[in-house]
Amino acid sequence: MVKLTIMDKSVVILGIESSCDDTAAAVIKDGKLLSNIVANQNIHKLYGGVVPELASRAHQQNIIPVVDQAIKQAGISKEEISAIAFTRGPGLMGSLLVGTSFSKAFAMGLNIPLIEVNHMQAHVLAHFIDSENCPSFPFLCLTVSGGHTQIVLVKDFFYMTVIGETLDDAAGEAFDKAAKIMGLPYPGGPLIDKFAKEGNPNKFKFSKPNIANLDFSFSGLKTGFMNFINNESAKNPNFIEENKADICASLQKTIIDILLEKLKIAAKEKNINQIAIAGGVSANSGLRAELNKQKDLLQWQVFIPKFEYCTDNAAMIAITGYQKYLKNDFATQNTTPSARYSLGE
Ligand code: KG4
Ligand code: ZN
Repeated sequence: MVKLTIMDKSVVILGIESSCDDTAAAVIKDGKLLSNIVANQNIHKLYGGVVPELASRAHQQNIIPVVDQAIKQAGISKEEISAIAFTRGPGLMGSLLVGTSFSKAFAMGLNIPLIEVNHMQAHVLAHFIDSENCPSFPFLCLTVSGGHTQIVLVKDFFYMTVIGETLDDAAGEAFDKAAKIMGLPYPGGPLIDKFAKEGNPNKFKFSKPNIANLDFSFSGLKTGFMNFINNESAKNPNFIEENKADICASLQKTIIDILLEKLKIAAKEKNINQIAIAGGVSANSGLRAELNKQKDLLQWQVFIPKFEYCTDNAAMIAITGYQKYLKNDFATQNTTPSARYSLGE
């Protein structure tokens, strides 16, 4: 029988994230973030993308030092932890297994409860890490990461519905694959963002998909971009080098246009003007600037997370765990990771 912390005591949640290629741990006490540690895995840069087996091995090496650092930086002892919240999915199975197994063992050792967290829900709830400027319910969240592109109708901390999503590649994947075509290292999103700052976004035109409803598609853009680069490079072998900033700016603009077009339709359809963005691509400076530029015209109240809460982190897992703790929503030691854990399950 695990010990449940009495509610008049402080609630201390240790959050653990290991769904892809970042090993992360964070501590939240009574809803306030005390530490947030992320160990990135540089090994994947050599291969142009995340290699699942290497990711699992790196998680195994990183998890104990990362958790240790998060506890030390928070200035707490491990005996003060009320519960451990961990990412159950979606993600890479081997990576999820490391975080799940570690969390189960640590919770058992400390005789405290476990809380399972959906990674996509946590990206949305990252907006509640700093409680000063949170969206109020209901709001729409455009969650754009390396594996997902979703428009989520958020009615409550736990009541979320995906109203539009990608039919093929995710927005982050579009950035990463385009970068790879240009010979840039993984992850390409931040590099395209950097080069785009110096470029002309209207120099090159890329075709946009014509998809019904609120869904997205990015695979056609990737193919079109590859053909464009191949054709231009055949005419001028230095084409990429000579036009890097303009290519990046034009591609980035196309991706942002595709995302905002659907977000605008969703806001109109649902009659919601509280608009949030989340996930790794929400760190993109072009997307952030465009939302800030258009918000007054659209009469939107826009919520953009701090950079450190956009890409994968454990603070978002801990804050989701904190909300679940308050609802007495605990997992058992029988919990297993779920690579395709969808929102609303
Ligand atoms: O949320 P995240 O850290 O991991 C997943 O859950 O997938 O997102 C990673 C994705 C990668 O595709 C990466 O290239 C992209 O986010 N990304 C960016 C930027 N920073 C990260 N894409 C565009 N601009 C950025 N500044
Ligand atoms: Zn993520």
